[in-house]
This record gives sequence, C-alpha cells and structure tokens, in this order.
Amino acid sequence: MSTALIILGAGMGTRMNSDLPKVLHKIAGAPMLVHAMKAGASLEPEKTVIVAGHGAEKVTAAAVAWDPDVATVLQTEQLGTAHAVAQAKDALDGFAGDALVLYGDTPFIQPETLEAMAAARSNHDVVVLGFEAADPGRYGRLVTNGDTLERIVEFKDATDEERAITLCNSGVIMAKSDVLFDLISKVGNDNASEEYYLTDIIGIARDQGLSATVVSCDEAETLGVNSRAELAGAEAQFQSRARAAALADGITLSDPDTVYFAHDTVIGRDTIIEPNVVFGPDVTIESDTTIRAFSHLEGCHVSRGSIIGPYARLRPGAELAENTKVGNFVEIKNAQIAAGAKVNHLSYIGDATIGEKANIGAGTITCNYDGFFKHQTTIGREAFIGSNTMLVAPVTVGNGAMTGSGSVISDDVPDGALGLGRARQVTKAGFATKLFDMLRARKAKQSKGH
Ligand code: UD1
Ligand code: MG
Repeated sequence: MSTALIILGAGMGTRMNSDLPKVLHKIAGAPMLVHAMKAGASLEPEKTVIVAGHGAEKVTAAAVAWDPDVATVLQTEQLGTAHAVAQAKDALDGFAGDALVLYGDTPFIQPETLEAMAAARSNHDVVVLGFEAADPGRYGRLVTNGDTLERIVEFKDATDEERAITLCNSGVIMAKSDVLFDLISKVGNDNASEEYYLTDIIGIARDQGLSATVVSCDEAETLGVNSRAELAGAEAQFQSRARAAALADGITLSDPDTVYFAHDTVIGRDTIIEPNVVFGPDVTIESDTTIRAFSHLEGCHVSRGSIIGPYARLRPGAELAENTKVGNFVEIKNAQIAAGAKVNHLSYIGDATIGEKANIGAGTITCNYDGFFKHQTTIGREAFIGSNTMLVAPVTVGNGAMTGSGSVISDDVPDGALGLGRARQVTKAGFATKLFDMLRARKAKQSKGH
C-alpha cells in the first residue's frame, strides 16, 4: 500500500524560548523535522505533507532543502492535533493509500517500528503507536481490550482509573487516508482543553465498527522535545546510539563518549577515531583511515588509508583521495587533495586542487579571497611547496615544480620550475657581535647610574 506522511510541526514550542520554530532545532546537525522525515522515508512515502504554523516559511525552507517534493500546508491557529491533520486534507485529495501521522518534534521513531505499523495496518483500519511509559505523566492513555484499541483518553480528561493505565499514546497514527480525514471531520472540541484531539478518532472509528489496534515501541523512540534541556537529552541519546552503532560496525573509538556524530555520518570499517573528534553533517570516511584527536570534520570525503589530524579541520568540499595526510592545525575547504599528497602542518588550503604526492610545507596559505571573490589555486603532481608559501590565487604551480620557503607566489610556476618570491638575503659579517657589544655597554652604564 502506498503511504503519505503527515508531519505535524505547527506548535509554537514556547518552552524552547526561541525565535526558531521548535521543529527546526537541531539534533546531530539536522533539524528535528528532518529526523522525522528520515524516519518516515523508510515507508517510501509517495507524498509528504508538513503542517506548519509558527515560522512556516523557515519550516518550509528546511523541509524542501531535505526533500524538494514535500508540500507544506499552513495551520494558522493551533486548535489541536486533529485540526492540524485536517489541514493536510486538500494536499492529499484523491490519494488512495495510507496516511501516517508523525510529530516534527519526535525525532527518534525507528524504521522497523513504522514497518511494524504498516504490517498491522493490513489487519486493522487504524493503528496507533503506543509505549509502556516509566512515568506516564500527562500522556494520552490507550484503553485496550485484548488486541483492540477501544479509545484514547487525554490525561486532562481521564478518570483516576484511566490515569492508572501505563500504555501511552506516542501520537503516531496510521489509517487509510480518506478514512482518517472522514474520522477527523467528526471530531469535536468538547473537552478539558477545548481542542480538536486527533486521539478522539479511535472512539469514533470503534463506534463505526472499524478496527483499531496498538503497535508498541520502546519509550526512547517516542521521546519528544519541548525544552532546551530535552533537546540536550535527545542529542545525548542520539550520540550514545551512534557510538554503539559505530563500534558494532567495526570502527575503533578509543574514547567513545568524546566522539560526536552527525545524523548522516558514514564511516568505513577498521577506521580508528581518536578522542574528541566532532563530525558535522555530510561526512563520508572510507575504511582504514585514522582520524586523530581533536579534529573537526564537516561536508567532506576522506578516502581509504588517509590520516587526518590531530587538530585538523576539514570543511565543506574537502575531497581527500587515498593515502593523504592532513596534519595538525591544517584547515581544508573546497579542495581536492589527490592520492598520497601531504599537508602536514599549520596550513590553510581553500578553493584548491592539489596533485598526487604533492608536499605542502608548513604554514602554506592559499590566499583565495580578495574581499569580494574566491579564486582557485592549482598545484601539480609531486610539486613541493616550501614552508610559509603564500599562494595568491588565482595561481598555478605546475607538476614537479617547487616554491621557495617564505615566498609570495602571485605568478604561475611552470612544470618543473622553482618559484621564488621573497627578498634576497643580505648578510653582514660581524654585525651582530658589534650590535650586542654596544647594547651590553649601554645596559651596564644605565644600571651603574641607579
Ligand atoms: C499529544 C496527544 C497525546 C500523546 C502526546 C504524545 C492529542 C490530543 N494528544 O498530546 O495523546 O500522548 O501527544 O506526545 O493528540 N500540533 C500542531 N497543531 C496543533 C496542535 C499540535 O501542529 O494545533 C503539533 C505540535 O507542534 C506537536 C504535536 O502536534 O508536534 C503534538 O502536540 P502537543 O500539543 O505536544 O500534544 P500533547 O498535548 O503533547
Ligand atoms: Mg507534546
């Protein structure tokens, strides 16, 4: 059965105390909304509709950046979860498949859980994702009878007996799209919050003779974020899962708790990651590489056999071929480093192409920016860039060419040539001895005077 996702994200998120819409706060480098979209993607949805409200423009931009095909609909007034879902009705007009409702602030629902819901849907009209809560608090309670879910009662409206139920509503619901909208059209707001509760559709469905059931998941999956403290807790939960997954995937983490992954980090087997390494979004590390301590990587690709760090920074567009070496206090941005090339110490390489086995000396800087435009530096294969070379881009240093240490290179250096761009050295015999003698005498005279 084809599926459509409806992701609710209109809530203000008052407790975040933020100008940013709640669902755009990030966990592991991606907005919570994107985590929800990624979870839903496991069902290969035909359509995705985001219900936005507060900060709808920003929410739309973030959703479209992840998946250009998503539709956003506006819920101008937050009148409750049923009212929110109802806003997606027109966007799904004529859609004959299932609709799955997710919350944009509930980022950790696992693909297997959604697959279990989809499987349960083949035997039931409505499927609700529930969990056994350690502390059921203010969650909606699932009133069941055997396998059948009879209704959901919100905490505010529940009797003491109902409040004693520990099986709670995660908010994730699945039903055939037209059935869902039909049930929602019958929901009223005669309750403690005067809101249109999505949860009311279960009782309505049962009254119509439709079947409803619960699929259960681990409580950790249903974790919702309402405050900065909960956001930090969600980040910690993500990181501990990512660390365990990396170890299981055959990656050595010498101090796992100090390594931070992004939502999309990809690392090959037998890679070694030393302590205090941070991965921003969009990093791929191939097998058999070493990422040494205190390195920061984002938007980069590191090929097999390379050694990065300690204290290296790889920024977006850094493409490192096999067996490259990037050492301490080196920053690389938007640059292709060919196989076997080395940039070992204290360098900035931006907007550049470095040829195979080139050696970039300590303190080399590509001067890539003139205050208005970025310019390209090209360094040939087996070129040798002397320490403290300033490469004033656009500039090319040819294959097998070299530059003298301390040079400012603003003209191209042809293949096999030496580029020298520094003042010629002047050496004055005995000058230092004379100067020191003079200064020593002056100092002695001064201290006698005191
Ligand atoms: C909801 C459920 C409750 C469940 C809990 C799980 C209802 C009535 N209650 O309660 O049974 O245990 O989630 O966390 O559904 N939203 C909108 N527009 C609205 C209202 C809400 O987009 O008008 C969005 C919110 O941004 C949020 C989600 O829907 O992402 C849930 O809303 P929230 O107000 O947190 O519902 P709860 O009271 O927590
Ligand atoms: Mg909530």
